[in-house]
Order: sequence, then C-alpha cells, then structure tokens
Amino acid sequence: MALSRRGFLVASAATLAATPGAIRVAWADDGFLEITARPASQKLFSNDNPPSDLWTYNGRSPGPELRVTKGERVRVRLINELDEPTSIHWHGVRIDNAMDGVAGLTQQPVPPGERFEYDFVAPDAGTYWYHAHTKSWNQVARGLYGALIVEEHEPSFDNTHDLTIVIDDWQLDEQGRFDPSGLGSLMEWSHAGRLGNWLTVNGTSIPNFMLNAGEPYRLRLINVCNARILEIDPRPLRATVLAVDGQPLAEPEPLSDKRLRLAPAQRIDLAVTPKAGRNLSLVEISARQPFTFATFAVTGSDAGSGARAAALPANLLADPDPAAAHYVILDMTGGAMGDLTDITYKGKPLTVTDIRETGQVWAFNGIANLADEPLFRVRRGKTVIVEMSNDTAFAHAMHTHGHHFRILGADGKPGAEWRDTLILEQSEKARIAFVADNPGKWLFHCHMLEHAAAGMSTWFEVV
Ligand code: C2O
Ligand code: CU
Repeated sequence: MALSRRGFLVASAATLAATPGAIRVAWADDGFLEITARPASQKLFSNDNPPSDLWTYNGRSPGPELRVTKGERVRVRLINELDEPTSIHWHGVRIDNAMDGVAGLTQQPVPPGERFEYDFVAPDAGTYWYHAHTKSWNQVARGLYGALIVEEHEPSFDNTHDLTIVIDDWQLDEQGRFDPSGLGSLMEWSHAGRLGNWLTVNGTSIPNFMLNAGEPYRLRLINVCNARILEIDPRPLRATVLAVDGQPLAEPEPLSDKRLRLAPAQRIDLAVTPKAGRNLSLVEISARQPFTFATFAVTGSDAGSGARAAALPANLLADPDPAAAHYVILDMTGGAMGDLTDITYKGKPLTVTDIRETGQVWAFNGIANLADEPLFRVRRGKTVIVEMSNDTAFAHAMHTHGHHFRILGADGKPGAEWRDTLILEQSEKARIAFVADNPGKWLFHCHMLEHAAAGMSTWFEVV
C-alpha cells in the first residue's frame, strides 16, 4: 500500500475494530486515579499494519476518559515513566492555578520516575480534555491526551447516548506507523504547524458507532490535533449545537457553516436524532479529498420519542463589563512569509542563531515566548479586553488558561458564546473580554503547539 504524503490518505477498507474500547481507570487505595505516562505500542491505521510507538496515559492514546459530576473533586496522581519531564494541563477547566499543569509557570515539570498529585474541583459541566503541557508539541503529538467530561447534575443523555469523539491527526509512514521524524523541524514550526495525513477517533481508524433511530444522542467532539483546524461537513450530520468549548449555548442552534471549523483544543457538543435508514458520518473536507473518519450506522425504526434536544443548564460565569475594562493590545507577527524584524527573545534582539537553534519565529507584541514580565497584570475581578490582530500569513487558535471569554461584536457588546480557544484567520482582528476572576499566573498562547513553542506564548497575572 502506498501512502501519499500530502493531504489525507485515501480511506482504507481494512479498518480497525469498530467500537473504540474504553480503557481501565486505575484507582489507588487513597482515592486517587493513577495516570501513568509511558511509552506503549498501538495500531493506528489498520490491523494488518505494524503498531506505532506512542507515548500514552495508562498504555493507550487517548488516555482514560475521566468522568466527574459538576462541582466534584478530581484527584489524579501522575506517574512519569517517560524518559523526559512531563506535566498535565486540564484544558478549559477554570482551575486552581497551582493545578494548571504548565511546566515552568505553575509547577516544576515532573522528572522521570517521579509523581505529582493533581487535586481540583471541576466547576463547570461540559466537555474538557487533558494533555501534556511540557514540550506539548512533542508530547501531545505522540499521544499524551485524554477526555475530561464533567456531567451535569441531571444529565439529559444517559451513558449509551453520550459519545466522546476525540479527533487526532497523525503523520503516518508507508507502513501506517506514526512517523515522528518531522517533529521539532523549523519547517513545521514556522509554517502551519504539524499536520498529519491520517485521522483517528479515540485512537482507532474510522470507527462505526451504532445508533438507534429516533433517539437523541450527544456527540462530544474534541480536536486534539497539534495544529490542524478540522473542517467538518455539517450535511451528513444533521446536528444541533449544544455547547462550544464546554459551555452550553443558551438555545441549541442548528449546525451551520459557521460552525464548521474546529481549531486545535476546541470542542463542540452536538445533538443528533438519527432517522431510520439514514446513516450519519463525520467527514473532514480541508484536504483535496473528503475524508470520512467516523460513521454512525442507524438501526431500528423511528419509534423513539423524536424529542428535540433541550438547552443544557448554563454554568455560572461572571459577565464582563466592557465599559470598565483593562484594555490590552496583542499584535501577532512572524512566521514564514512574515515580518521577523524587531523581535525580542530572552530580552535581546532575535538572531539568526536563535532561529536556527531554538526555532523562535513568532511574536506577540514583538516578544517571542515568555518574558519575565507578564503581558498584563490586573486585580482580581477586573474585566479585561484583549484586542488581537493576526499580522501573519497563517491562522491561529488563541487560548486563555483559567478563564473563558466572550467575543466582542462590532458594537463593542459581548456575544453570547463562551470560549476558551478562538480562531483568528490570517489578517483577522478580534476582541475578547473576560472577568479576570481566577488568581495566579496564566498562560495565553496559540494552541497550534508548534506556534506556541516557536514564540506564540505569553502570560498574564491576576492578583
Ligand atoms: Cu490546551 Cu496551554 O493548553
Ligand atoms: Cu498559531
């Protein structure tokens, strides 16, 4: 079999076993869930192809799906059996700063052979995820991530109608094995980031889910790709949007074109009620050929209630007050075909040697990567507006740690959605607003992990 190196591979008929298997959650006697970061082999392409060497949580990628109820404590003991330091970030959770998992900012990375205990409350119901936050561009690309689902007090979908769909793209070699060779290359760091040639769902190729006609299902899509903005065709889904980035919409909305693009780290919760004899599918359309990466076979007649999905209960987030905001400008520059002049790295002008040896090529306000001083420092409770301008030749996916934000409209009023990650297209400007109500030092970065490593990271402090 010849695999093409560009765009997506053509879907093969010989796919892996259908239903993605749940993996064992390991509980220690003291009530901690144990998550061991370790190498393991796993088949990504088909059963007939050799397995890939991945880095996993508890032996499989994605790691165990963690499910808790809103307001519950999450206690996880990370055991590092890798050869390099690591840490876990709980993406999108409005978490206690010391538990945010950012090596070098909120904790020391956990050295090989050692452990770290995460203990926090999950304040919001919704779809979240966890991933390595030490050299993420390398560790996430190799498989270190999993889903974190926070259930409502009275979930409106039972377990058999609530499906988590963790989507990753992988660069596979001619044998259908994970190919790490491009990782860390200036080519990937300075362009669109690492883009794979194959998509998996929950670590399997093209799974087929079985759905009953006439019954509503919740599909929780999580984009864990290093850098790929997934473009999903809404037509073969016939879905309603329940939530974005974990936070419910006030009213479910039909999935429309504007919802198609799911950036790295973004989530979207969809409701579907399949009709008898009309199978559904997830089709990625960003490459030259559409790629059907999951199918849903519908069985039975339409006997179900056919009830439409109701809105999910809102989480309690503080509403920003744009009239009394601390205003921050964030100018995004650099990258291939971009302006590399006037960039400061580690307090000095960026040199050709810095570019060659450390891969720094992107900047926020002329600064590549974290400086000693934060982008801004505000008192707890203050509204912050960040005006971002993407002056680069690429799209980016900007992510705030510890806070969800609203997007300001042209009229300066906050829109309805809460997000933790926002796409900025090439040459686009956007203003986001949030109440800085979570004390600590928080990262703010592009979630295209190569861009974050190559300069598109900064931090802010809430005191
Ligand atoms: Cu998914 Cu710094 O985050
Ligand atoms: Cu970016």
